[in-house]
Amino acid sequence: METKYIPEPFRIKMVETIKILSREERIKKIKDANYNLFNLRAEDVYIDLLTDSGTNAMSSKQWAGVMEGDEAYAGAKSYFKLLEAGKDIFGYEFIQPVHQGRAAEKVLFPLLMGPGKIAISNMFFDTTRAHVEIAGARAVDCVVPEAKDPSKRAPFKGNMDTERLEKLIEEHGPENIALIVMTITNNSAGGQPVSMANLKKVYEIGKKYGITVNIDAARFAENAYFIKKREEAYADKSIKEIVSEIFSYADSFTMSAKKDAIVNMGGLIGIKDDAELYQKVKGNTISFEGFVTYGGLSGRDLESLSIGLYEGIDEDYLNYRIGQMEYFAAKLDSAGIAYQAPVGGHGLFIDAAALLPHIDYREFPGQALAIQLYIEAGIRTCDIGSYMLGNDPDTGKQLKSDFEFTRFAIPRRVYTQSHIDIMVDSLIKIKEMANEVPGYKIIWEPPILRHFQAYLEPIE
Ligand code: F0G
Repeated sequence: METKYIPEPFRIKMVETIKILSREERIKKIKDANYNLFNLRAEDVYIDLLTDSGTNAMSSKQWAGVMEGDEAYAGAKSYFKLLEAGKDIFGYEFIQPVHQGRAAEKVLFPLLMGPGKIAISNMFFDTTRAHVEIAGARAVDCVVPEAKDPSKRAPFKGNMDTERLEKLIEEHGPENIALIVMTITNNSAGGQPVSMANLKKVYEIGKKYGITVNIDAARFAENAYFIKKREEAYADKSIKEIVSEIFSYADSFTMSAKKDAIVNMGGLIGIKDDAELYQKVKGNTISFEGFVTYGGLSGRDLESLSIGLYEGIDEDYLNYRIGQMEYFAAKLDSAGIAYQAPVGGHGLFIDAAALLPHIDYREFPGQALAIQLYIEAGIRTCDIGSYMLGNDPDTGKQLKSDFEFTRFAIPRRVYTQSHIDIMVDSLIKIKEMANEVPGYKIIWEPPILRHFQAYLEPIE
């Protein structure tokens, strides 16, 4: 069945030129980058899908807001505008701006946990896990089993496995569980949504055992849209109403505003009503980020963020945004290319293990596909698989990931239907030549987060 492309609910007022190098040039560039896509210069990339974070296009209203930004060190007008927007949308008493998502984690998590404690999430994003560990605690993932089967279509593959959650709490003792984190949408599982029923249930479990619940809210608006489309009781509710109910099932949130709030830089912390905790958040913000009323952002950033928060929950925009993903996914269905299905909110996660079955996980199918996409079409994606996962810290052996994905993360309001068609065509081309695509070996790697820096070489 053909899925129609939903026309952009905007017209284009400013453009940025992109250029495509020749295939020969691309082969040379990726070799010079040691087959690591993070080492490429962005100007040598034609369609850049490395991330949807901070790569979004701001609107004319947001750019007008940039000019309105109040750059006062303390008490800026733009700060109060952001507070108003935050309180209106999330319904929380306390809103604290910070410079990005990981800064929110750095400020909040040490206040909630320490050595010997455990934090449980439907799935932690890398930096979120890192900040749990930096605070001295341990991070445990507890996603529903269907998330691990890319071909299994289920409406809410991002959900927390609530039965296992309760088992974990009983096993470790509720006094040792410092925090539950609900990541919406579940990025690591493929931008998969979490249902309202699941959010509610997890919050009830938290209340039952006296455990605080925090929402990792980077893609909260896309999650709300999926709830509207897939959870019957919400079909007639506005996105804003759904968002407000989502946040009622938590005590705090940390947010990278570089995604659904459609800005290039920014983050937020929300505290529902705990004035004592907020007092401590202010203290850490001043130490790490900047004074409370700017939190590491310029006044112009605060201004465009408060506008972006509303644009991100606009239903026409979300209809187009998720429609673009569904158009992409439907074309892959027709071409018989497997991905984490159904498609999530911010990216297409191609099942590289299925596309390149001759490449063993130790030769990194997700990375091999990412490199080939650059060579064939100048498209930059990234591996979400064994290459990213790295080595066992104890044995030094390569770990085997549950998935071997190549992620096409789609920036918001940036690329058009014809760019999506190019993505599809290049995948079809690679499918046809799949057995010529080589696996890769690492010839140099740093000890931690190696995928950002490692050098690779094709295996002849
Ligand atoms: N939480 C989630 C779910 C994220 O996806 C990210 C970032 C963060 C927290 C951290 O936010 O980058 O503003 O510090 N994800 C990006 C990505 C980088 O490409 O998926 P940040």
